[in-house]
Amino acid sequence: MKKFNKIVLTGASGRLGSYLREPLSCKAEKLVSLDINPIGKTLTNEQFELADLSNYAEIERVLEGADIVVHFGAFSNEGPFKKILDANIVGAFNIWKAAQERRIKRIIFASSIHSVGMHKSTSMTKSNVMHRPDTFYGLSKCFGEDLGRMYWDKCAIECLCIRILSCAKVTSNRALGTWLSYDDLVRIVMQSIEIEELGFEIIYGVSDNKRSPVNNKNAKKLGLKIEDNAEIFAENLLEQGILDEKKPGDDYLGGPFAIAPLGSDAMATMNIVDERKIVD
Ligand SMILES: NC(=O)c1ccc[n+]([C@@H]2O[C@H](COP(=O)([O-])OP(=O)(O)OC[C@H]3O[C@@H](n4cnc5c(N)ncnc54)[C@H](O)[C@@H]3O)[C@@H](O)[C@H]2O)c1
Repeated sequence: MKKFNKIVLTGASGRLGSYLREPLSCKAEKLVSLDINPIGKTLTNEQFELADLSNYAEIERVLEGADIVVHFGAFSNEGPFKKILDANIVGAFNIWKAAQERRIKRIIFASSIHSVGMHKSTSMTKSNVMHRPDTFYGLSKCFGEDLGRMYWDKCAIECLCIRILSCAKVTSNRALGTWLSYDDLVRIVMQSIEIEELGFEIIYGVSDNKRSPVNNKNAKKLGLKIEDNAEIFAENLLEQGILDEKKPGDDYLGGPFAIAPLGSDAMATMNIVDERKIVD
């Protein structure tokens, strides 16, 4: 007998969702994977639901009977406010509202470093600092965190906010500090669904990097095991001549997002490699 009956994963078609589907499917009788884009071939006990986060009726229907929601669906870049409002702000509200109606006990939320992106990158920022969003996108993640806090305080829905830094291939000096390996992402999510009493917590989604710009003591306090260290990529960056390269924005936790004009594509300069995991 698996521990959970039903887990819902939003953003299942996305890059990070693609790494979470298989491990989450091993923890529940049924994994329901939700996205506005198709996921391709499904796993044995996986059901795909084409649904829009901004449509409450669709979300409420999909969340029926779930034990846990792993909420990774979002517009994941800076962009026009309306896009972020619909997918991230209304979308997050719909998730928590439906969770309350459906008596769901726990939500694991993909927050972002951009909720605190205007803090200095040298300040070893803790998870309890004030929000300082660097973009509309970061602002939407502040809203998600506050929703989580409010629904815990008033409705006892547990929540872990994972402020992910950079879960992507290391292609810059900044990423030696901000990297979250796909393995550590999976470790964090899988361990967080198992914690007996979670309450409301915020941690950083970052590997155990020697050059990490944040203080992730809260993850340790929760007993989360995070194992990787981006230092393994330092030699390669040295060979490419970019080990000491300083880019505009590097003084801030949000990096390129911190200096991008509001509403503009902040990822354009980031050289993100799409290494989506394919289910075959
Ligand atoms: N990748 C990172 O380094 C990183 C860093 C910080 C935070 N995050 C957060 O982690 C999550 C996953 O990131 P990712 O890199 O996989 O992004 P992604 O863009 O690859 O995936 C997001 C998914 O959400 C889906 N989506 C968007 N709008 C939707 C809607 N209205 N209804 C239903 N689904 C919708 C998209 O179709 C996509 O499949 C996001 O919430 C993102 O903000 C990621």
